[in-house]
Amino acid sequence: GELREWAGPVQEVISPMFERQPDGTLKPRVIGSYPLFDEAEAIKALDAAVQAYNFGRGEWPMMSVAERIAAVEKFTRLIVARKAEIVKLLLWEIGKSAADSNKEFDRTIDYIRNTIDALKDIDRDSSRFTIEEGIIGQIRRSPLGVVLCMGPFNYPLNETFCMLIPALIMGNTVLFKPPKHGTLLHFPLLAAFAEAFPKGVVNTVYGRGNTVVPALMASGKIDALGLIGSSRVADSLKKMHPKSNRLRAILGLDAKNAAIIMPDADLTVAVQESLLGALSFNGQRCTALKMFLVHESIADEFVQRLATEINKLKPGMPWDAGVNITPLPEPQKPAYLAEIIADAEAYGARVMNEGGGTAAGPLVYPALLYPVQAGMKVWREEQFGPVVPVARFAQTEEAIQYLIDSDHGQQVSIFGSESQEVADLIDQLVNQVSRVNLNAQCQRGPDTFPFTGRKDSAEGTLSVNDALRSFSIRTVVATKL
Ligand code: G3H
Repeated sequence: GELREWAGPVQEVISPMFERQPDGTLKPRVIGSYPLFDEAEAIKALDAAVQAYNFGRGEWPMMSVAERIAAVEKFTRLIVARKAEIVKLLLWEIGKSAADSNKEFDRTIDYIRNTIDALKDIDRDSSRFTIEEGIIGQIRRSPLGVVLCMGPFNYPLNETFCMLIPALIMGNTVLFKPPKHGTLLHFPLLAAFAEAFPKGVVNTVYGRGNTVVPALMASGKIDALGLIGSSRVADSLKKMHPKSNRLRAILGLDAKNAAIIMPDADLTVAVQESLLGALSFNGQRCTALKMFLVHESIADEFVQRLATEINKLKPGMPWDAGVNITPLPEPQKPAYLAEIIADAEAYGARVMNEGGGTAAGPLVYPALLYPVQAGMKVWREEQFGPVVPVARFAQTEEAIQYLIDSDHGQQVSIFGSESQEVADLIDQLVNQVSRVNLNAQCQRGPDTFPFTGRKDSAEGTLSVNDALRSFSIRTVVATKL
């Protein structure tokens, strides 16, 4: 809630954007460092948030919605002025292309502005009076308390803010821990937080997730957890809370979204959307297409056309024009991808594109694997990287069964004509996932659409409108007439 100097231990940040030496070796670049909090330091940040909330009687939760909006608007003006620094850090820390880094920033600002607009609907809720059985009820929306927000490395700004801003607007006080890859880009925001919000309302926690976050959860003082990350982490954090029934969890988790390509699909559209769906930002999106189920009558042609498109992709550094494949920020990822490619090859799949799977340090060239079959690691594991598995099916029922058997249930894409068969398929698949895309890749946007999932893919719903509801509770003031 206030700017503090840090004199304790720090974690160096090594950019995935390596420098190639004249002898061909790759030289890592240290681009900054961040504070390494211990448990006690994290608890100090928590105490600041608890104190600012003050059992719902603090200045922030008691403020009018209009005043809270004014603070968020001030914050937005302040961060827009720092856009260039934030975008540059996005590019250096996580390797997002210049265009996509700019897009992430702009999408975040739009998200904030649209959230403020959406609040008008919620406000209408609060001013609604219901008269029933001699009682007049005023429905309100009240805060939950102290919210811990943790966004993922692939959208470190946007997906932190799509939880943090609605939580703040609804009157909660907030702690947030930036993702390990994507921490430095939050530094330019700190002064804006301190200037726009009262002391203790927004608090940043730095350090190793497995040290500081358990301390926060075990305190029992976190009322809501907003996490976009893995279901394994979410499960263990929820269990650390001493009274899990007092914790509201709003979670965006693992996904293994599939594309089902029907025999009558327009292959030009299917290939183009598949390319974007599988390989935008190197496939590092929870919504990425991570499995392709293609009807056997068109599978060979689909694979050959997709391989041709993948061969045109240009690997390089995110600031270079025309580059679409960039270094991966997770240091262990290239080895993992090599492992799942080797596993698929051992069971009969082939890499179908030129140089697929080759790597220079963190820069991994995409691999199109075909034919993929049940039992291979890539059949079920979420690769979250540039590996594109294609399997064949004979009967549509096999594709449906793939989704039924999955532990995930975020989205699916169907490519096919607008036939009765496709309409029936949509009707079946809406009961398996939370969004069905027809002739389009899977994606989160538009941000007004509910963003959620079934099974291990989500808990609660995020979106411009839904997040305001997720981070608040409906309360009633009931007066007997
Ligand atoms: O990583 C998960 C994101 O929510 C994906 O968002 O579909 O806009 O890329 P996106």
